Amino acid sequence: MALSEQSIVKSEVRWALVVGGTVALILAAILFAAITMHMNPPSNREYADPKTLHLSAEFTEANLGTTVDPNGRIVARIIATQFEFVPNCIILPANRDVTFRVTSPDVIHGLLITGTNVNTMVVPGYVSQVHTRLTKLGDLLMPCHEYCGLGHSQMLATIKVVP
Ligand code: CUA
Repeated sequence: MALSEQSIVKSEVRWALVVGGTVALILAAILFAAITMHMNPPSNREYADPKTLHLSAEFTEANLGTTVDPNGRIVARIIATQFEFVPNCIILPANRDVTFRVTSPDVIHGLLITGTNVNTMVVPGYVSQVHTRLTKLGDLLMPCHEYCGLGHSQMLATIKVVP
């Protein structure tokens, strides 16, 4: 039985509506995400002005590296910049609570520490924060894992875990 021209047109219109509706839904989702969500590292939402990092507040040169906060937690403050971590060797004691706080003055970087749960993006304008407890003694590598320019493959720090 041949389909009538009218039923073919009806079917075409139905499918055009389905496709149009799907595209509209996807565009609405993208717009919704762009307008309502701020892009920030998955770990934390805290702001740090990339232009004044070196001048005042938490990430000045004197504050980088490790400190012990009043409740005994060790805090490691690091700047991820093209193409190094500052400082690029961090000594931490094993089996203590450690918080990494990291930000970037230039482009998006990332960091992970091999063999641990530490893995975050570092987005300029935001502070990335990761809590961990390192249990294995020795040197751990901390490479940048977001492509950040020509020197990306050389962007690497060492975490020394000591007793
Ligand atoms: Cu920094 Cu790749």
